[in-house]
Amino acid sequence: MNGVEIRAVAHYVPPRVLTNDEISRWVDTSDEWITERTGISTRHISDGENTSDLAVKVAKQLLDAAKLSPTELDLILVATTTGDYNSPTVSCIVQEAIGATNVPALDVNAACTGFIYGFSTAQKFLQSGGNGYKTVMVIGAEVLTKYSDWTDRGTCILFGDGAGGVILSASEKNTYGEKLHARGDKAITVNHQEVENPFSNKKRSLGHIAVDGQEVFKFAVKSVAENIAELMAHMNMSLDEVDYIIPHQANKRIIDGIAKKLKIDLSKFYMNIERFGNTSAASIPIALSEMFKNGILKKGNKVILAGFGGGLTWGSILLEI
Ligand code: UT7
Repeated sequence: MNGVEIRAVAHYVPPRVLTNDEISRWVDTSDEWITERTGISTRHISDGENTSDLAVKVAKQLLDAAKLSPTELDLILVATTTGDYNSPTVSCIVQEAIGATNVPALDVNAACTGFIYGFSTAQKFLQSGGNGYKTVMVIGAEVLTKYSDWTDRGTCILFGDGAGGVILSASEKNTYGEKLHARGDKAITVNHQEVENPFSNKKRSLGHIAVDGQEVFKFAVKSVAENIAELMAHMNMSLDEVDYIIPHQANKRIIDGIAKKLKIDLSKFYMNIERFGNTSAASIPIALSEMFKNGILKKGNKVILAGFGGGLTWGSILLEI
């Protein structure tokens, strides 16, 4: 087998909670519209913490949970589209902050599919034989709201900030499979323009998110449903053998659509979008961490992680807990 074992999970979201009612004070929207069209009620937003601050908090929790010292890590991967700088990467900032002396560190940018690509990269390192990669930390961390256009009601309602992660080691017995894809398309972009951020005193010169909402919606439902079916065929498995699907949390109606297309009950999908909104590369590890902490996931469970987003990118992983 070429599986992985999850040795620890953790997540962190900034304490500031932004409600739909608050947003409707400065753009023409309402709690009713946002809840009905997206499933989002609240999201956590940073009021000054940057992406690496969130990632470092998760990294420290992960080391505590796994009872590992930082130098026992063989690789640090951070999936993010919202790094503090182009360089140094968030993973290098984490490496320094936790004292993982000389441990290699790499950022992965696949937008909202970032954690899937990061997890897949970790699995390849872990399976690389005698090269000594035995313990890999994978974090998804985003402060998307520093790129939000707070005058655009079509996008500013969607995004929240957060981070989540895992520590992985190789497993000979756990089932593992994956199918990843990309199709270059500018349906979701981050442009370089100066924006005001009402939640911070700091004026940031970053940019804003532009989303072709309906295009992305249709792409997501179709691609993710087909991707999950493709993964099941590849694994020679049926969805009856899968305990949970953990989808990227972008819109509750997208998840409803995927369930319908796959003809499976919505209860198989874990959802926390109501509380966190779309946290991009952080959404799947935050969900995974919550599920472990709430005792939902049990040893032996078969779980699908399914991501989609900017790039366009999409992909899914079958994992045995
Ligand atoms: O991780 C991947 C990142 N991207 C996404 O997740 C985006 C995926 N797309 C979506 O989630 C949905 O397309 C949105 C939530 C962005 C939009 O929902 P929709 O049901 O596709 O609405 P729409 O774009 O078709 O707009 C319908 C109407 C429009 O008004 P008119 O032209 O019919 O008068 C919009 O201007 O709703 C209006 N509208 C809003 N109204 C109130 C758009 N945003 C809002 C808003 N409040 N926040």
